[in-house]
Parts: sequence; C-alpha cells; structure tokens
Amino acid sequence: MIADVVVDLQYGDCGKGKVTHYLCKTSDYTHVIRYNGGCNAGHTIYHDGRKVVTHHIPAGVFFGIKSIIGPGCVVDPDQFFEEIKTLEGLGIQARNLVHIAKNAHVITRDHLREDGSDLTIGTTKRGNGPAYRDKYGRKGKRAEDVEALQSFIIDVYEELHNNEKEVKILFEGAQGFGLDIDWGDYPYVTSSHCTAASALLNGVPPQSVRNIYGIAKMYETYVGAKRFEGSEDVFEQIRETGEEYGATTGRPRQCNWMSWQLLEKAININGVTDLVINKVDVLEEVGQWALYDHDQRREFESSQAMQEWLFSKTKNLGVKNVNFSGNKERI
Ligand code: IMP
Ligand code: MG
Repeated sequence: MIADVVVDLQYGDCGKGKVTHYLCKTSDYTHVIRYNGGCNAGHTIYHDGRKVVTHHIPAGVFFGIKSIIGPGCVVDPDQFFEEIKTLEGLGIQARNLVHIAKNAHVITRDHLREDGSDLTIGTTKRGNGPAYRDKYGRKGKRAEDVEALQSFIIDVYEELHNNEKEVKILFEGAQGFGLDIDWGDYPYVTSSHCTAASALLNGVPPQSVRNIYGIAKMYETYVGAKRFEGSEDVFEQIRETGEEYGATTGRPRQCNWMSWQLLEKAININGVTDLVINKVDVLEEVGQWALYDHDQRREFESSQAMQEWLFSKTKNLGVKNVNFSGNKERI
C-alpha cells in the first residue's frame, strides 16, 4: 500500500484542490480519500477550463478514480447530494465513484442550527463543531445509520486491506495547519485534525506513507472572527488581485504577510517532502514582497529574491522538492 498526503500548511485556501487535481491527473492512484472536515471546506478546481468548487467530494471523481469520504470526516447528507447533482450537471459521473466510510459521522439539522448561531469563532456555519463534539461525546450518528446514504457506504478496512489490486492512495486534506484543533490558534480553529498525521487515522499504517505534499501561498489569508489582517494598504490590493473571498461562504479573507515561523513549524510537524508555494503571481502583480521572520518584518526587492530565501530555508528543513506556482497557471 502506498499513500501520498496533501496537507495545507497555513489557514486553508492555499490551493490544495488544484494540487490534488494535478496529482490525480498525472499519477496512478487507485483511491482518493478526504481525511478530515466536512462541507466547511471549499476546494476550487479548474477542470477542462471550468471552475468547480467541491466541499465534500474528493477530486478523484474528475478522473474516474474511486473517491472516499473517510472515517475522519463529517458528512451533511443534503449537501452531499447537492454536490453530486452539481457535478453530474457538469458531466462528471460522481455517483458511481464516490463512497462514504461507514464510520464517518453525520452533520444533522440540529448541528446546523446550533452552528448557525455561532458568533465567537466565525465558523462557516456548516455544523462542523457540533458534529465533532457529538462524535467525541459518543452520541453522534454514523453514516452507516442514515437510510439515504446506504448505496454509498463503504467499509474502508475491507476496501484498503483486502483489495485484490495494489492500493495507491492520495489523501486530500481540508482546512489547514493554522486551523488545526491542537496546533492552531485555539479557540480560532476548526474541530478536526488538519495535519498529515490525521490521514493515518483513516485506516492506513504509517509505513505506507510516501510523499507529503505541503501547500502554502506567498502571503497568508484567514477567514474567521479573530483580527488577522496587517495594517498596510497593500492587503486590500492583495485581496482583490488574489480573489481572496471564501469559496464556501463568500466572506472576504483577511490578508497578511506570510509568517515564516508558522510555515517552518508546519513543515516540521507534517514532515513535508514536497512543498508547493502558490499565488506567486499575485505578489508580482502587486509589486511588494515581505514576510515575518520570527516577528521581524523582512522585505524583498523581487519575487526571485523572496523565492530564493524560501528555497534555501525550506531545503535546510529537509524538504526535497520546492515548487513555486502562480494563481493563473491552470494545471
Ligand atoms: P468551522 O470549521 O466551520 O467550525 O470554522 C472554524 C474556523 O475555520 C473559522 O475561522 C472558519 O472560517 C475556518 N475554516 C473552516 N473551513 C475552512 C476552509 O476550508 N478554508 C478556510 N477557512 C476555513
Ligand atoms: Mg478553501
């Protein structure tokens, strides 16, 4: 068994969808598995020139790969069916490819109602927190107990460990390291584990892990209730140029310079082997480059200079491959 993991190293919205889509297109995976979160996620994907936003369904469906919503996820059945309909409307035959782990948990109407009145964290109001709370409180409902989901239910152990063929999995993460329940800025976090380790909780042994694709971008964005945006005017420009509005809720994302300290920590904790830094072209268009180097603001005179600095720093951490990519590159 081989498992590669895609993990976001900042606050979500770094381009995991794009990287997952690219990896599905260019590699020979037998399964794509979402390993955490629910429909709070919004993965923007360009497929055959069209923009598609997925919330629950893994990107494997675009390439005929079996796609599983793993045991670490929470599922909203209404949203799930809605998404299948949207994908099928675009000619993507999701129904026969997508499965839900029987032990994934369900987001109920009560969860949605409760999360809908959240005023403290600035959640996506998709019922995530209450669903995970009930799971860990041992009073949750599992997907296998929902009548409407029966034809999608799968036993992940049987599927991965008693499969006749060799299994090659791409794990698709949701949210990001800065939103992780343990490593994020608590309580301004999501309710699941967003690190690469979380992928392993979905039924694969640690020895199966091959590549860890860590995804970041050249600046940071965050959506939620805490104050995050830097005070310089340039962040307004970055938001417009980078189209930094939530894929799930449409909220403007708060922008700031990249924190090298956060990226370094995320690379170390996730064991990143391959790093992708996205949206390089946004700062090029804006014409300013900076990051926080352990609370010191460090400026660069060009994109090239910032990339070189990041390249040498990340290589020192043992990252094997470093890639810089632009928002407008459609891969
Ligand atoms: P929740 O996951 O909806 O409970 O929201 C908790 C925090 O995580 C809020 O600040 C959300 O804006 C943020 N969040 C949740 N999902 C995503 C995502 O996919 N991208 C970016 N932020 C997210
Ligand atoms: Mg997103």
